Amino acid sequence: MTTKYSTKPAPIGVFDSGFGGLSILREIRKTLPQYDYIFLGDNARAPYGNRSYQLVYEFTLQAVKHLFEQGCHLVILACNTASAKALRSIQQRDLANLDPSRRVLGVIRPTVEQIGKITTTRKVGIFGTPGTVQSLSYDIEIAKMHPDIKVFSHACPMWVPLVENRESDGPGADYFIKKDVEALMAQCSEIDSVILGCTHYPLLYDKIKKYAPTDVKIIEQGPIVAQSLKDYLERHPEMEQRCSKGGTCIYSTTEDASRFSPLASIFVNHTVNAQHVIL
Ligand code: DGL
Repeated sequence: MTTKYSTKPAPIGVFDSGFGGLSILREIRKTLPQYDYIFLGDNARAPYGNRSYQLVYEFTLQAVKHLFEQGCHLVILACNTASAKALRSIQQRDLANLDPSRRVLGVIRPTVEQIGKITTTRKVGIFGTPGTVQSLSYDIEIAKMHPDIKVFSHACPMWVPLVENRESDGPGADYFIKKDVEALMAQCSEIDSVILGCTHYPLLYDKIKKYAPTDVKIIEQGPIVAQSLKDYLERHPEMEQRCSKGGTCIYSTTEDASRFSPLASIFVNHTVNAQHVIL
């Protein structure tokens, strides 16, 4: 099959609805600094967490097509909501028409693979967006891979808006995080590990830790997804060769770039000069 996209080696695409994907990108770049990356945040349309399946799917497909048009052979959906609601359709239906040699990977499976090694009580908590929690993606994947683990989920509809509206450090964040952490922990006193099942939530890590019982492990996905990508590239040398190596990162956002760049710079710890894109 001929492809409509460039076949030259190209950056790895990393997509999220907004700032959250930067928590994944930062860890991927620490683990795999040699590759080039394009980050795309759909900040203008975030949050995705309350949106319908159809909309999350349409927005995610637009983002994937955009990153393919930039030449990316491999795209990471650094977003649980998109991984839960759009990944399967894109992998099973759209890739065949777009370009079957390109790959789109999500963040839920690598997280679920690791959780079996982390929990001792086999009682695991999940914080996620309403979309991720309602999709039952974690419950289904964990039941398949670790049938002995019992899952307790809690949706936190206010957490992503707190991050996207730069309120992560304010007292409003304390109010909602305390309330949601208590609601999850009230479901079962034996929960020993809690997955931050939304890539925005590591940006609220200190406050989540503050309100969670001290012996409960709070699991961030960044290091897990980074290691899983490293393993994937080792297992797939044909894809590894198609990822360009220059250590660069282009940042793009559907929001006004001058609004995105200052906060993104804080999250990734270096100066970001993002480009505005239209999907
Ligand atoms: N950061 C995303 C996730 O991992 C989506 C958050 C949102 O847009 O609601 O689910």
